Amino acid sequence: MMSTNTQDIAARLSNSGIFRTQGLIGGKWTDAYDGNTIKVQNPATGDVIVNVPCMGKRETSDAISSAYNAFSSWSKLTANERSRCLRKWYDLLIANKEELGQLITLEQGKPLKEAMGEVIYGASFIEFYAEEAKRVYGDIIPAPSADRRLFVLKQPVGVVGAITPWNFPLAMITRKVGPALACGCTVVIKPSEFTPLTALAAAELSLQAGIPPGVVNVVMGNAPDIGDTLLESPKVRKITFTGSTAVGKKLMAGSAATVKKVSLELGGNAPCIVFDDADLDVAVKGSLAAKFRNSGQTCVCANRIIVQQGIYEKFANAFANAVQNLKVGDGFTESVALGPLINEAAVQKVESFVQDAVSKGAKVMLGGKRHSLGMTFYEPTVISDANSEMLVSREEVFGPVAPLMRFKTEDEAIQIANDTNAGLAAYIFTTNVQRSWRVSEALEYGLVGVNEGLISTEVAPFGGFKQSGLGREGSKYGLDEYLEIKYVCLGNMDRA
Ligand code: SIN
Repeated sequence: MMSTNTQDIAARLSNSGIFRTQGLIGGKWTDAYDGNTIKVQNPATGDVIVNVPCMGKRETSDAISSAYNAFSSWSKLTANERSRCLRKWYDLLIANKEELGQLITLEQGKPLKEAMGEVIYGASFIEFYAEEAKRVYGDIIPAPSADRRLFVLKQPVGVVGAITPWNFPLAMITRKVGPALACGCTVVIKPSEFTPLTALAAAELSLQAGIPPGVVNVVMGNAPDIGDTLLESPKVRKITFTGSTAVGKKLMAGSAATVKKVSLELGGNAPCIVFDDADLDVAVKGSLAAKFRNSGQTCVCANRIIVQQGIYEKFANAFANAVQNLKVGDGFTESVALGPLINEAAVQKVESFVQDAVSKGAKVMLGGKRHSLGMTFYEPTVISDANSEMLVSREEVFGPVAPLMRFKTEDEAIQIANDTNAGLAAYIFTTNVQRSWRVSEALEYGLVGVNEGLISTEVAPFGGFKQSGLGREGSKYGLDEYLEIKYVCLGNMDRA
């Protein structure tokens, strides 16, 4: 069994060649210019893993300049040359799967098996965009007059500021940087200050893969200062962000002054609708996966489980039984299914949502309190008789709490599901083919899982309707976010 001691694990990883603790600017590992640092902690124990630089405006400005200078040569490489660099980066991510997985568990808390799954998932975006790099096709447009030729070029947008969250310390970076680099853009990454080590390890591997200095830069520390510097710089032509809706709105407003392209992957409030005609086992398994992945800390986690009255009791009991079997603990302990929440603030939010639900008439079927392990561990929780007035159904819980709501008709289920400003993921469980089409079409969501709770993949578009965001990540659609379209008209073509 693997040690759960923070310093043992950090010591082992520091010999692995991917353990970096400085920022990366223009290919050089760099401390904060004023020497300030911030602690990176293991959320399962509270132990400090290591200190990393607390960077701000000056470092970010230099990282932007490095990315700007690197853009002219990186964007001029052939697509094939960029593709080969990305492929090599993918190979190195996979070769270092164990170490990267351990790093994710150490700083983020998710169980090791799930962390390894994130490495495969994260690396898949680099592999996919290594392939897509060669398929950024333009167009020839039939000209309206005989003496003209019209064509369309697709060109990289320029320097990209990528601001990424702690819940997927690797995959949310690769999902942005993969397509950016494939198109010929260069990047300044600002990872979450809770989980910078995975970002730095990925950046180290990008250098080992032969991606030239300055193409990938990483700064971390003072989030508002870094964010403002990225927003204010006219050299940064695109902001891509995964995180809260509140921060996303600020980034969108801040991008207006320099009219940057913006992609935002923001909060969700995913409905998971279980119809009377669902296969019970499939519905329980799918809802469990959709709810408890990463201890409920994903934007696509089922937030409201909406169950038709005919199957409600049967589903509630089977679901609660399945949840009871989820083992909570340190992510390095074998067979653990749920790790800690990221920090104390996250636990307090979950506690206040559960209290609010109980005060408004919900019943706790299972869990409902902090776990006896202490720290930021919370018991996997099932709440019955939830309704639309409760915080658990109005806002994103981002924790291991599953509120069950009851509905009578298909129309009512759709109305409840769409009654929110969010529109990222939704799930439905039914064996009726016509219903599955009808309801999928009626849901105001960017992703719909039918009889399936885990639907994220590099080959499909990921992104939200309404206030869940702008743009799409992954798939062929994800490339467009990093490209400008240029129309070129050749005139006087009839002259010899
Ligand atoms: C997220 O929570 O933002 C990403 C989840 C995923 O990629 O499946």
